Formats: sequence, structure tokens, C-alpha cells
Amino acid sequence: MNHSLPGHAFSCFVTGTDTEIGKTLVASALVYLQAQRGHRVAAMKPIAAGTGWRNGRWCNDDVDTLAACASVALPQQITTPYLFKAAAAPHIAARLENVLIDRLHILSCFEQARAQSDAVVVEGVGGFCVPLNDSYDTADMAKDLNLPVILVVGMRLGCINQALLTAEAIAKRGLKLMGWVANRVDEQMLYAQENIQAIAQRIDAPLWGTVPRLEVASAAAAAACLSAPISNH
Ligand SMILES: Nc1ncnc2c1ncn2[C@@H]1O[C@H](COP(=O)(O)OP(=O)(O)O)[C@@H](O)[C@H]1O
Ligand SMILES: [Mg+2]
Repeated sequence: MNHSLPGHAFSCFVTGTDTEIGKTLVASALVYLQAQRGHRVAAMKPIAAGTGWRNGRWCNDDVDTLAACASVALPQQITTPYLFKAAAAPHIAARLENVLIDRLHILSCFEQARAQSDAVVVEGVGGFCVPLNDSYDTADMAKDLNLPVILVVGMRLGCINQALLTAEAIAKRGLKLMGWVANRVDEQMLYAQENIQAIAQRIDAPLWGTVPRLEVASAAAAAACLSAPISNH
């Protein structure tokens, strides 16, 4: 299957095989690429868990990384309606602060972002099925937003199963898997190319690129790995 990163502005929901596998890196690369092409791109991380106190405010790395790449600046209350202090599973972090994550509020923030931009790149939280409260999870949020999904696969032992299960869950929600990205989180991984091939053969979506272990994990460096036309066969 050929590389098919769209040339036009596109909104998407970025999910991944796990946490800490490169969702923020790839999401910021997609924001960066579109901004470079002159599009008005907003980035959202609707739910973020884990903050540090910097420059007089509570900050979250994902939120700040995405905001730095966006060409549309939006208030953080819009891009991240739910920012929790604890670096824990979101439903736990929310409960610790007595907050109930409200799907309609997320949707309303997304609509406001969309109204002010050509495209909105939304990063999920953790993997695709992470709970947000007792009756709502990340997959429901992707479904509510009705966005095509980009799957980031953290290339390490076990990722084939994680990638295929995630692709199955995305299809079950009736969402389109727009593309996937192989991110070389473990540069020592044996048979990485064979693993990429195995996933490519079983996932009905184009591989948008392979990001190597980068010396500097910047949006620009990752974007360069996605923008060059590639073939996975
Ligand atoms: N290809 C890569 N090369 C170097 N560092 C990477 C790469 N992918 C991810 N990282 C680093 O690994 C950490 C987790 O990546 P991140 O994009 O935040 O993952 P996630 O959003 O899935 O939790 C970050 O510090 C990031 O800079
Ligand atoms: Mg992230």
C-alpha cells in the first residue's frame, strides 16, 4: 500500500498501542506538517493526567508540546478541558479531584476549536479503550468526535497483537482508520521491519511512515519521516 498522507487539511484522532509510545510526537508532527503547509491547525488533548508546576502554573508536557506546534492558538480551557494533577489512569485522576468527565463538554470544546481552524488534531489519552468514567471511554470520545483515527504503533515486542486489537476496536466503533505510524521506541527491537510488515499486511490502512529513534524527538524531525513518500512493500 502506498503512503497516502493527505495534502489537504485534515482533522484526526491520534491513538496508540499504549501510553508512552509516541502519540504526542506523531500528533505534534501532524500538526506541524499541516501548519507548514499554511493550514490553520488547532491541537487538542481533551484529557491530560499528570502536571508539574512551571512558570507559575500547572503544566502538562503533552498539552504544551501540542500547543507549541499549532498555528491556531486557543485557550487551554478549550484545548484541554480536563487537566488532572495525578499521573494516573484518567478515571482515577478525575475521581481524585471529584470531577466527572462530561462528553458534551468535550464535544462543545471540539466544536469551538473546529470553528476557528481548518483542522483539529486530537490526541487521545493512553490506549484506545482507556476508561474516562464509569460509562464512557476514550473510544466513545473518538466516536463522539467522529474523527478518522491515526494509530501510532510503538515498535517493541508484543506490538503486533496490540496494533491488531486496536485496529479491531476502531473498526468495531465504526470509525475509519486513516493511517498508522510505526514509531521505533525500542531501537534494539529485533526484526522490526518484519514486525512492521506483519502489521501492514493485516491492517486495512496505509502506513504513513516509520519514525526511527530520534536524537531530538521534535515535531519537525518526526514530520520529516512522515512527509517523504514511502512504500511498505
Ligand atoms: N521515535 C522517537 N525517538 C526518540 N524519542 C521518542 C520517540 N518517540 C517517542 N519518544 C519519546 O518518548 C516519550 C514518550 O513519547 P510520547 O509521544 O509522549 O508518547 P505518548 O504520547 O504515547 O505517551 C517522549 O519523551 C518522547 O519524546
Ligand atoms: Mg501523549
